[in-house]
Amino acid sequence: MTCLVAYASQTGFTRAYAEWIADDLECRAVAYGQATDEDVAACDVVVMGGWFHAASLAGGSWLKRMRKAHPNVRFVVFGVGATPVEWTDQVEEGLARALPSPDFDDVPRFYLRGGFDYAKLGLRDKLMMKLFLKAQEKAAQSDERAAAMLEGMREGFDGTDRDAIVPVVVCARSLLDEAVRP
Ligand SMILES: Cc1cc2nc3c(=O)[nH]c(=O)nc-3n(C[C@H](O)[C@H](O)[C@H](O)COP(=O)(O)O)c2cc1C
Repeated sequence: MTCLVAYASQTGFTRAYAEWIADDLECRAVAYGQATDEDVAACDVVVMGGWFHAASLAGGSWLKRMRKAHPNVRFVVFGVGATPVEWTDQVEEGLARALPSPDFDDVPRFYLRGGFDYAKLGLRDKLMMKLFLKAQEKAAQSDERAAAMLEGMREGFDGTDRDAIVPVVVCARSLLDEAVRP
């Protein structure tokens, strides 16, 4: 009964969740680029976390490739973004786009709120955010969500919550149990 947490993280929020989850599951958390085919093949369950980047999930191609290469390994996915968890329509839309049906129907998925740290972004993302913020400024005049998002992004925030990982851990544990008692 083995598991691994693989994560894609640029500014550290997804990594923090991955480390908390790994801590509770008593397994390793590694950046997805460092998780080899051998590492994945040795697992019953892999928990994969990626941050939302313009509605796509970082690490998504790795996940797709690993699922195809290792059909006997169960994957659990958590996406991390700046979107508040209460905006369930946007959250569900993002997860559905990142894990399209029917290919990913058997993959349990969760959303955890990350944060925003402009200073830690790469150059390309800094530029992308500048353009995004400009567009949001106009939208914020008539759209409450755009205004809230704009405020959070301008000032930066940490929305991580250790308690929010519980459903992810419970799900991974139940899949690990199934692996022991097929
Ligand atoms: C260029 C860019 C695009 C983003 N797109 C989204 C998005 O589509 N949805 C969302 O909820 N958050 C989005 N975010 C916010 C990040 O997902 C959020 O900051 C996340 O916590 C970053 O995780 P990390 O610290 O692990 O890199 C975006 C951030 C950047 C810089």
